[in-house]
Amino acid sequence: MALPQLFEFHVRPRILYGPRSVREIGFEANKLGGTRAFIVTDKMLRQVGLAQRVADGLAGSGVTLVGIFDDVPPNSEVKVVEAGAAYAREAGCDLLIALGGGSVMDTAKGMNVLLSEGGSLLDYEGAGLLTRPLKPFIAIPTTAGTGSEVTIAAVIRDEAQGLKLEFNSPFMMPDVAILDPELTLSLPPGLTAATGMDALTHAIETLVSTGTQPLSDALAIGAIKLIAANLRQAVQHGDDLEARGAMLLASNMAGIAFSNAMLGIVHAMAHPCGGRYGVPHGVANSILLPYGMAYNLPTCAPRLAEVAAALGVETRGLDDETAALAGIAAVRQLAADCGLPARLSEVGVPHEGLAQLAADSQGDAMMMTNPNPAGEEDVLALYERAF
Ligand SMILES: [Fe+2]
Repeated sequence: MALPQLFEFHVRPRILYGPRSVREIGFEANKLGGTRAFIVTDKMLRQVGLAQRVADGLAGSGVTLVGIFDDVPPNSEVKVVEAGAAYAREAGCDLLIALGGGSVMDTAKGMNVLLSEGGSLLDYEGAGLLTRPLKPFIAIPTTAGTGSEVTIAAVIRDEAQGLKLEFNSPFMMPDVAILDPELTLSLPPGLTAATGMDALTHAIETLVSTGTQPLSDALAIGAIKLIAANLRQAVQHGDDLEARGAMLLASNMAGIAFSNAMLGIVHAMAHPCGGRYGVPHGVANSILLPYGMAYNLPTCAPRLAEVAAALGVETRGLDDETAALAGIAAVRQLAADCGLPARLSEVGVPHEGLAQLAADSQGDAMMMTNPNPAGEEDVLALYERAF
């Protein structure tokens, strides 16, 4: 494959991996110059004691915990970010810690923009609007899927428009990402499956994106291998620390990859399902991924053949198209083995809503890097097939 003429690659967060690495949080916060830390999380994670583990890790470090905001819902919203930022500002925080899945980490990213720069969150929608570093920020993922701990992006729902908005800036990246697989042990099978399929979607969409580049490719292929080998185990035996650790790393690798090479039609179609009907992000991706791969196949069969091989499909002797089709079948099988739904009609999307979803997808930034251009009619046909 010819190398691109020009590309750039961001790798800002320092990544700390290991069981019980959350104990290092005080040391890390100190090193970043924080003195008054504020935790962003959700009620469930607080109830099961994970926020307490972070608080314990801060004890004795010289960094004071000044507040915990645990009002983050599964699909965060603009008003949640604004309420969290107001609380953190009142508490006088100078360092943010996100403890949770994608919604929590994206909420913390938005809060950091408001805490550091002021104004309203909607002022920062889009890309390139930030020009300087924000407050120190540590992310601790408790799901293995979003990769938000290493991405430049936050996706936050605007309840007024019923749309998911994207905020992109290298300055929104955390300074440190702590990957502690013990924190993912209590994640239930359904969430483990959905978030794992989100990570798989990141890796596959990155590999066929028009922004593809060698550094992100290597991470994406590595992530697919880890997911193929470990997702079923993590779903079926949630207490397997090895499988949990592998999935956390896969999510992280796929996150770095897509933050640099961007995504495509599957995410552009999944976002409206979340925005309009609250379909969990990973579930929407899992349902739509085989359809997006099939749509893109005419433009990137060799790449999808590589995906198939990374998924563990025996591709020797197969032409690229046949291998790619076997890869799509392997994706469907993985989702089914993990107990995920296969149709939009099973997850609360009404048939009469498909045309609006197709219209929404056209405004999604991820559509710009899809290898096979897709207009509203093309997308509607895919939604119909996935229904
Ligand atoms: Fe995603």
